[in-house]
Amino acid sequence: MLSFEEIRKKVEQAVSGLRFEYPPKSLYDPIEYTLALGGKRIRPALVLMAYNLYKEQVEAALVPAVGLEVFHNFTLLHDDLMDEADKRRNKPTVHKVWNANTAILSGDAMLIAAYELIGKTDAAHLKPVFDLFTQTALEICGGQQYDMEFETRTDVTEEEYIEMIRLKTAVLLACALKMGAILADAPAEDAEHLYQFGIHIGLAFQLQDDLLDVYGNTETFGKNIGGDILCDKKTFLLINAFRRADDRQRSELDRWIGTKPEHPEEKIAAVTYIYNELHLKELSEQKIEDYFARAMEHLDAVQVQPEKKAVLKQLSERLMNRQS
Ligand code: IPE
Ligand code: IPE
Ligand code: MG
Ligand code: MG
Ligand code: MG
Repeated sequence: MLSFEEIRKKVEQAVSGLRFEYPPKSLYDPIEYTLALGGKRIRPALVLMAYNLYKEQVEAALVPAVGLEVFHNFTLLHDDLMDEADKRRNKPTVHKVWNANTAILSGDAMLIAAYELIGKTDAAHLKPVFDLFTQTALEICGGQQYDMEFETRTDVTEEEYIEMIRLKTAVLLACALKMGAILADAPAEDAEHLYQFGIHIGLAFQLQDDLLDVYGNTETFGKNIGGDILCDKKTFLLINAFRRADDRQRSELDRWIGTKPEHPEEKIAAVTYIYNELHLKELSEQKIEDYFARAMEHLDAVQVQPEKKAVLKQLSERLMNRQS
């Protein structure tokens, strides 16, 4: 059994060992820039942790695991362009350092590179791994499309929000876990519980991301605070603000949502003020705990000795208390 730190180290080594050596260099520089900025590397870690529940030699799962990290970083290049985000991992985003077309094309190259890495899976597991990844990638596009469409709607329900974050975020964590299980020839029921564990951790993870987008610290979070408020993202916070607002709060929200003010900090402050008045941070934290508890039920149902599952539990707990 590998420890959390040992897994992290293997992932980091594998990611930093990636080489993109074809010309033109200008297509690959943004890729190397992005991958070199680090990040938590959760998705490849989840592949290896799931694999390690059943088999010792995690190296066998390392290449497709890194493929998922490259894929995740591709989604970030396009996401930052779509969200007009200037900062990620405490550095200017690719479309800021270069330009929009570079973010699109280098992102496309990363998606293809991800497929190339996942395609190196051994023949015995290639078909299920490939099908799982393809389905997941399409679901993420769907989630991102909903996310964008919701920006201009004001009647988005909490159920619609949960489905949107399931698609844009949770399925990739779930895919990582199930991929590890498939590669290790785990029983199908275990693979499904690991998938559901990932879905529930993923829902909690995105709720937490939305919370940090308002209440986080720019330095540790690495992204600009208030970005979701400026884009009118229909987060759990904003949906519940509309739902619980009194007349004054509602007219205040109506005044700000849908506007691009000259002084963005005023919009962020005004909306955050209403979130505070309505205690939505606490409401969100409760929801995160609920999903975390449901995630743990699925992890408990996985048929391996409890000691083996400690690393996954430890990672989940760290994620729930994260500041970055
Ligand atoms: C950011 O993912 C995108 C979301 C799904 C919220 P992470 O928070 O895993 O980003 P990095 O890779 O650690 O930077
Ligand atoms: C990201 O959601 C989901 C994907 C990248 C697929 P966000 O837009 O909330 O992620 P951040 O906050 O920019 O990392
Ligand atoms: Mg974003
Ligand atoms: Mg986004
Ligand atoms: Mg976010």
